[in-house]
Amino acid sequence: MNRRINFMGYRLSGSKCLGICLMLTFVMGCYLAALPIRYEKEALPNPVRQRITSQETPKKRLAVLVPFRDRFEELLEFVPHMYSFLNRQKIPFHIFIVQQKDNNRFNRASLINVGFIYSKKDYDYIAMHDVDLLPLNDNLKYDYPAAGPMHISSPKTHPKYHYDTFIGGILLVTREQYELVNGMSNNYWGWGLEDDEFYVRLKDAKLTVMRPSNISTGIDNTFRHVHDKTYRKRDMRKCYNQREVTRRRDRETGVHDVSYKLHNTHTVAVDGLNVTVLNVELICDKNRTPWCQCPEPVKAAKKT
Ligand SMILES: *[C@@H]1O[C@H](CO)[C@@H](O)[C@H](O)[C@H]1NC(C)=O
Ligand SMILES: *[C@@H]1O[C@H](CO)[C@@H](O)[C@H](O)[C@H]1NC(C)=O
Repeated sequence: MNRRINFMGYRLSGSKCLGICLMLTFVMGCYLAALPIRYEKEALPNPVRQRITSQETPKKRLAVLVPFRDRFEELLEFVPHMYSFLNRQKIPFHIFIVQQKDNNRFNRASLINVGFIYSKKDYDYIAMHDVDLLPLNDNLKYDYPAAGPMHISSPKTHPKYHYDTFIGGILLVTREQYELVNGMSNNYWGWGLEDDEFYVRLKDAKLTVMRPSNISTGIDNTFRHVHDKTYRKRDMRKCYNQREVTRRRDRETGVHDVSYKLHNTHTVAVDGLNVTVLNVELICDKNRTPWCQCPEPVKAAKKT
């Protein structure tokens, strides 16, 4: 039986219909086969191009290095504060708490050297950062300091130190700048002067220290200084020939010869925000820097 089918107004026999159907199937097949190719050409390039550009100019990554010992309260405030401050500036960063775990006097500079060595393969620049100094002004930009080390806590805004060559508190330095000056001196056990020596290193290397611009706040309201003078006593002792040696430029020690053992690392969350704690034992060469432990003062020595 020859069935007749009505197709687009044509009355066709079964065999003719089969032929047309096969042809249509072929044409549709070709069309569909061609579609994904055209679709690919039009729709894929955007994400691909984006991936390529973000590889060409990746955002520089910041390692915030915090030399640390016995400042737990300050740390609890520091971490959430820095997360919201740096996230507002969209800076890719991670915080490293470099904790000194030995019996020697605190050595801020050597701890920064250790933090630098630990973080340098993954980070493009560091912030040497006091744990008790919280930036309040959003115009303090923690961007990559290509033009020269950026002293965030300038003498005009630091709550306590106002001399022109002061570079303590918070300083941003690129990996290359830090290596160029051989990092910081390892001779500074106890409080102070290591940042002044670092200033001379930068100057000798012809690096220009930059300071933030467009800051209209002053010494009272640019930073919050979490520091209790009586409760947090500074270790101002000077023993052996420390006073004399630490007032001179150190042309020998630095990031290349900092002597330490990294005992372990911990990921610690403060309010759910991760930081990395490095437990560092600094090793003192007592022939070279005997003042890493001052002898205890004789008890009941004369008062006044
Ligand atoms: C300068 O500071 C003001 C006030 O904080 C701010 O609105 C402005 O965007 C800043 N200008 C620049 C160039 O950063
Ligand atoms: C924080 O650290 C924990 C434990 O190492 C990890 O499971 C978690 O994914 C980290 N969180 C973030 C936001 O990186």
